[in-house]
Amino acid sequence: MAGPDLTGYETIVGVTGGIAAYKTCTVVSRLVQWGAGVTVVMTEASLRFVGAQTFQALTGRQVHTSLWESESQYSPRHLRLGEGQDLMLIAPATANIIAKIAHGLADDLLSTTVVGADCPVVLAPAMNARMWANRVVQHNVQALRDLGFGIIEPGTGWQACRAVGPGRMAEPEQILNQVAERLRSAPPRKQSAGN
Ligand SMILES: Cc1cc2nc3c(=O)[nH]c(=O)nc-3n(C[C@H](O)[C@H](O)[C@H](O)COP(=O)(O)O)c2cc1C
Repeated sequence: MAGPDLTGYETIVGVTGGIAAYKTCTVVSRLVQWGAGVTVVMTEASLRFVGAQTFQALTGRQVHTSLWESESQYSPRHLRLGEGQDLMLIAPATANIIAKIAHGLADDLLSTTVVGADCPVVLAPAMNARMWANRVVQHNVQALRDLGFGIIEPGTGWQACRAVGPGRMAEPEQILNQVAERLRSAPPRKQSAGN
């Protein structure tokens, strides 16, 4: 598919538990078509929205869902996954993962991978308008901005809770534009090896 050439770039896509996870399938598929290596890490809640098999098929790689999967090598997954990547994208980013990252919590594979990552981390928040307006959520989002995390601003529109308001995850095209632009601002860090 026509688009930017992302050959050689390695990315982690974290998926958390929101309806917008279905849109992340398009983001992942397009990144792969543009040549990027994509390894998906899913939270337990996200598995209720999209199956791991879907992302496995789209990426051609194992999907990681647990800190506690057995390791075939001594290199803990939560450290190995975030090492040497060009970018980590979390989409959708729930209020929960935003709070956890803002406070350095590391109680599952995705949050622990973020704490151990040595690459830029970008989040695409997605939630109901009242949740997005919540002062604690806004405080946490601002804390992440101040710490240098990328925030792909949510839009305003129809939400799965049948309300219209701000908090709807940015559309795949917007997410892809921002991810591609960030990736192409520097050469790939390592040769694609898969995860
Ligand atoms: C049907 C349904 C839809 C949900 N959608 C969202 C959402 O869009 N954004 C959000 O922040 N939380 C949403 N939640 C709540 C999260 O799934 C919940 O806070 C969960 O603990 C998030 O875990 P995670 O961040 O580890 O994926 C939803 C819950 C349900 C049952």
